[in-house]
Amino acid sequence: MISAMPTLPDHWCIAIDGPAASGKTEIGGAIARSLGWRLFDTGILYRALTWHALQRSVDPSDESAVAGLLPDARLRLRDPDDPRIIEVGVEVGGADATPHLREDDVESAVSLVARQPEVRAYLIPVQHRAANRGRLVVVGRDIGTVVIPDAPIKLFLTASPEVRARRRAAQHAGEPRNSVKVYEDQRRRDAHDMQRTEAPLVPAADAVEIDTTLLTLEQSIARAGQIVEAALAATQQRLAI
Ligand code: CDP
Repeated sequence: MISAMPTLPDHWCIAIDGPAASGKTEIGGAIARSLGWRLFDTGILYRALTWHALQRSVDPSDESAVAGLLPDARLRLRDPDDPRIIEVGVEVGGADATPHLREDDVESAVSLVARQPEVRAYLIPVQHRAANRGRLVVVGRDIGTVVIPDAPIKLFLTASPEVRARRRAAQHAGEPRNSVKVYEDQRRRDAHDMQRTEAPLVPAADAVEIDTTLLTLEQSIARAGQIVEAALAATQQRLAI
């Protein structure tokens, strides 16, 4: 898909932000694969801490109780140095959180945990350590605005809430979910993510927005690929001067 391949610095990142089920992981994953880079899905960190809180019977909306878990959370990204692994898993409190990240109770509570300033502050260095490990596509909510504001390429993906809910429900085709519940959960999560004071979900001023409402996944990947390719070609020109 992407042919322009300049000699880039060792640490380089493409930031992709957007609301729930806007296609960040699929589109980011396709771009990462075509470049031979790794995908870093920052949502797994918030999900892992949420799972950890639920495991310890901590109310996910209780800020001081959640903050109390952080010093011993021992959050660890698994195998981030293995170049064959595109998506990284995550351990928290010594247990593998990876199989639990998409469970219903985590899905419902994650945005309550993610809006807490202490949680966000705790996760910034975790994300920086991972981002300093090489060339990455990093997906999340605040990557282009807060975590890596100097990312050389920033995309912001959107789609209508109805289309996003339909896509998310289809992802769970094997274990059918109530589509009204998927829509409502997503709407609540989007509202928390957009209205929080700390690192709200907003496009960075220099992000390229892609509305995928009327696009298939293949068309969305192609559109994002064109933008990335053009940015890489511009970088190549700059580096050649
Ligand atoms: O896959 P989906 O877009 O539905 O969710 P996700 O990327 O796994 O993120 C789950 C939740 O984590 C979001 O609803 C946000 O509340 C939070 N999150 C965040 O606040 N900042 C990030 N960089 C990534 C996720």
